[in-house]
Amino acid sequence: MLEKDSVYRKRRSIRSFDVSKAIAKEDLMLILEAGSYAPSGGNSQTTHRLVITDKEILAKLEELVQQEFARMEIEEDTYKSIKNSILRSRQGNYFYDYQAPILIVVANKKGYGNAMADSAMMIQNMMLQATELGIGSCYINQLHWLDENPVIRGELLSLGLKEDETVTGGVALGYAKAWPETELKRDGNPITFC
Ligand SMILES: Cc1cc2nc3c(=O)[nH]c(=O)nc-3n(C[C@H](O)[C@H](O)[C@H](O)COP(=O)(O)O)c2cc1C
Repeated sequence: MLEKDSVYRKRRSIRSFDVSKAIAKEDLMLILEAGSYAPSGGNSQTTHRLVITDKEILAKLEELVQQEFARMEIEEDTYKSIKNSILRSRQGNYFYDYQAPILIVVANKKGYGNAMADSAMMIQNMMLQATELGIGSCYINQLHWLDENPVIRGELLSLGLKEDETVTGGVALGYAKAWPETELKRDGNPITFC
């Protein structure tokens, strides 16, 4: 059995951040480096990260994400997390990134079949390295869902996203206000030995 303090068991999605404690530049660089060591399909290494640390940019993105979700309609088949984002945005108190001090937006080439897989590999590496450093992280997917939204896309293009890229995911980083004490049950994900 994995040790309780192994990085796999320690990593949890952190959704409440202590913004008074800044992440040191060296730690951020280690997290980014860990991401760069992730495998990629055909060793393509085309995953592009926008590392956002500027408070004003983070706040503007939060405002735009809330604004754009609030405008969206809920259909019968709307994915539950998107529905939740829409409902919370309509209430006017939606912080999709939990007001983390750092948000890394992850993108990859449009039309590349391994875009999402490569990005997820990189995000996991970064989350595990953050955990090793005692830094909290959470996978953030809202900018992926809003990838084709012209307002959000326009904002991300102004920050450095390329025209031929699609947003594949993201990760919020920061020191946790509190690390979850109870573990989640891990009894899903069926395994068949053959
Ligand atoms: C592909 C993917 C997308 C996710 N998107 C979000 C998200 O947008 N916001 C969020 O709070 N958590 C997101 N999560 C985190 C999951 O909710 C979380 O991993 C799951 O509930 C298990 O909890 P744990 O990370 O603490 O083990 C995402 C996770 C994955 C793998």
